[in-house]
Amino acid sequence: MAGAKAPKERGGYTEDVSTGQPEDDGLRFEVDGEIATITLDRPDKRNAQTFATWSALARIGDDLPERVRIVVVKGEGPSFSAGIDLRMFTPEGVPGQGSFSSAARLGAAAFEERLRQAQRGFLWLRRPEIVSIAAVQGHAIGAGFQLALACDLRIVADDVKFCMKEPALGLVPDLTGTKPLVELVGLARAIDICLTARTVEAGEALRIGLAEQVVTRDDLDRAVHDKAAALLSTNRDAATATKRLLQGARSRTLEEQCAAEGAAQAERLRALFSAQP
Ligand code: ACO
Repeated sequence: MAGAKAPKERGGYTEDVSTGQPEDDGLRFEVDGEIATITLDRPDKRNAQTFATWSALARIGDDLPERVRIVVVKGEGPSFSAGIDLRMFTPEGVPGQGSFSSAARLGAAAFEERLRQAQRGFLWLRRPEIVSIAAVQGHAIGAGFQLALACDLRIVADDVKFCMKEPALGLVPDLTGTKPLVELVGLARAIDICLTARTVEAGEALRIGLAEQVVTRDDLDRAVHDKAAALLSTNRDAATATKRLLQGARSRTLEEQCAAEGAAQAERLRALFSAQP
């Protein structure tokens, strides 16, 4: 992503980010009218993610132009993302960003703060004002799977391979993915998928609600474009208010949800008709 990176913004696991030269965040970001596209762009490393990637994602969220209604997240090359950069598991780590062994030496509070910074890169994709679409082909492993889960919708190629590999590596999924996974597929399936670290392919992904649509790899861009066009065809403010309602539905009682619908509709009616004579 273009733009200078101040050291404090890199947000790695280490307390000392001055060791080694920071790497490119591996992202491209483009805005075309109401559609923004974030492309994971390290195809030679299967779009492996680093803390620089997550800091850059958070900055994109912070600076997202107000006119944007759709955010597409995609990966260049054969895989959406092979997850966290495996150099994090080496003693040397990722230059400028440390390693898991340096993370293990941080106190719990310091570690949790670093993780919160990383999670910021994923959380904004749920904002009511936008709809985020993950366009997923090939492997979406670990952090890659969680990035796809951070999006509102997943349109996948028929070669998709989701895998929550963290437990196989002695870790837990910690990049905001566990809640959407449980909400999408249910607790039992989420336990099965995570605790076996097995691969979920396209047919199953569609069947269990992990994907909204499966297309051929060649049709992926077109399918995402068509979905974006359909989403843009509805009233912007109504779409935002409706997404907010839907997001809150699970945590409200039926009575509370009915009341929330009424309040939102009253606001819509005021907006639509109060300006009229
Ligand atoms: N981190 C760093 N480099 C990676 C990663 C990764 N996660 N994944 C792939 N690469 C690199 C490979 O080292 C290789 O580099 P090289 O050409 O310099 O040798 C290049 O990307 C291509 O990798 P291949 O394995 O040759 O690609 P292939 O398409 O055959 O396989 C696959 C892709 C299945 C994704 C495989 O690379 C893989 O299993 N990667 C590791 C996945 C993983 O364990 N991720 C961590 C999950 S846990 C988490 O995210 C928190």
